[in-house]
Amino acid sequence: MKGILLAGGASSRLYPASKVTSKQLLPVYDKPMIYYPLSTLMLFGIREVLIISTPIDTPNIEMLLGDGSQIGMKISYKIQHVPKGIAEAFTIGADFIGNDEVCLILGDNIFAFAGQEQDFMSAVAKAGNNATVFGYHVHDPERFGVVEFDDTGRVLSIEEKPKEPKSNYAVVGLYFYPGDVVAKASGQKPSARGELEITDLNKTYLAENRLNVVKIRRGAAWLDAGTPDALLESANYVAMMEKRQSLKLACIEEIAYNKGFIDKAQLQKLIDELKDCDYKKYLQFVHNGG
Ligand code: G1P
Repeated sequence: MKGILLAGGASSRLYPASKVTSKQLLPVYDKPMIYYPLSTLMLFGIREVLIISTPIDTPNIEMLLGDGSQIGMKISYKIQHVPKGIAEAFTIGADFIGNDEVCLILGDNIFAFAGQEQDFMSAVAKAGNNATVFGYHVHDPERFGVVEFDDTGRVLSIEEKPKEPKSNYAVVGLYFYPGDVVAKASGQKPSARGELEITDLNKTYLAENRLNVVKIRRGAAWLDAGTPDALLESANYVAMMEKRQSLKLACIEEIAYNKGFIDKAQLQKLIDELKDCDYKKYLQFVHNGG
């Protein structure tokens, strides 16, 4: 299973905060936004990741994360020259994906599944040659892709930002596809707003009866940090959780260590390279056995 992290887009809803930097490099409380989706991929056990971003932002993201080897990952980069839509990630990433299964995550999506990752991976494995997406109950579904279920939980429809949503279930920015996603995305046509819509791609799987939708359970957090309010809410959420538990969310070094991607000596090396700061103190606490 490979991972694609899409950190492109114009981020116009965050202007002017996003004028000279991509939103994925803006802080969400104590770390850059991109740490959160990256950590989600890591928690799924995905170690080979392609990051797609704009011509201006890609070098900065690369400066932040490098080739990933310091956290036991293999990270590569590709540029999306014009923001042509989420589904373009699969044609830009065609060589990277090959015939493998792939998980796409959006760079402004923040998840705190509190251990539900294993259930999700089992659902994906069970889905076999089908696509798997996730529904999350929200109060403002019109902002998102929306999925409609019948009484038995079967998917009836999926619509992008409908004016009259047929349910409260938003489709989150986390998608698992079998290897045929590249061929499907290559044949896709732009929508009325000129974008290769992820929802249109998902509709092709639904039409073939190959779209598996998993509901994310109550209490798990999903935040899309793409607007000023959502960014602030995300930061407040992370701050509240981290202060309450004195444990960090999306600390990529800690996750790499806990998942066995790096050993204790490699963690120590990362700590030694940091200047004195709270993040360093936290990693030392992890190193000492948490
Ligand atoms: C995109 C997708 C939408 C999805 C959302 C999740 O919207 O088009 O279907 O629900 O991400 O964050 P965007 O936030 O790019 O407008």
